[in-house]
Amino acid sequence: MKQGTLVRTQNVIAADKCIEYLLTRPKLEMVGLGLLYGRPGLGKTTYASRIAFSKGYLYLRLEATTTPKAFASKLLLALYKRFGMGEYIPYGTANDLFMMCITLLEDHKDTIIVVDEIDYAFRHPQLLGAIRDIVDVTTAIVILVGMQNAKDRLNQINEYYFDRCNFFYEFQDLPKKDIAQLCSEILEIKFHPDIVDYVHFHSCGNVRKAMKLIRSVEEIGRYKNLDIVSQADLDD
Ligand SMILES: Nc1ncnc2c1ncn2[C@@H]1O[C@H](COP(=O)(O)OP(=O)(O)OP(=O)(O)O)[C@@H](O)[C@H]1O
Ligand SMILES: [Mg+2]
Repeated sequence: MKQGTLVRTQNVIAADKCIEYLLTRPKLEMVGLGLLYGRPGLGKTTYASRIAFSKGYLYLRLEATTTPKAFASKLLLALYKRFGMGEYIPYGTANDLFMMCITLLEDHKDTIIVVDEIDYAFRHPQLLGAIRDIVDVTTAIVILVGMQNAKDRLNQINEYYFDRCNFFYEFQDLPKKDIAQLCSEILEIKFHPDIVDYVHFHSCGNVRKAMKLIRSVEEIGRYKNLDIVSQADLDD
């Protein structure tokens, strides 16, 4: 099976529209903050990381242990690398590092930053505040990526923050059409159309599950040396 492709599912198309919407917003009236969220395994991280790689956006992933200072260093380092400034960032407090980030973002208009696993920031008001400052004082676009309840959590934690968010998109279960596209772009052996039904039914529209099923389909096809694999080949 092919690796590293970004299949243009409905979710991918909708998420692209989010970035497009923020890029073309009236910048004096609206800040560039958006939130992509949804249940596990629907392709949020894949979209965020692969689109960032292909378009030159910054991709940052928060971890359970990410403190505001660690985030500031991570962001500054990513900005240094992005703008060809080397791999060694200066020392400083979290605030110093954020101020350097802001200066760089002011110098490089419309930089797009994707922050995955934003849920980890919900317990750090300082970290959330720093992201808010970035969108308030620069033209940078920040796309937050979070779990299914990220939108509600953000609203509960800080109504003002929520108000600043100018685009929300919830990733949806994949319809059969998307599963068919996934099969044809990922599978490297021929398959009968009933394979799409099989993958759609057993994955329930979850891409992570669909990928495992696609892998097993391909393994069976290869193991049995089939020219074309169909559902009947999977049973025995
Ligand atoms: N658009 C896509 N094209 C190709 N493969 C995809 C796509 N979306 C998802 N995948 C595959 O599905 C797997 C699961 O997706 P991903 O990890 O992006 O989901 P997620 O929504 O971030 O889940 P979680 O909420 O658990 O972090 C990926 O490892 C990738 O193999
Ligand atoms: Mg993810």
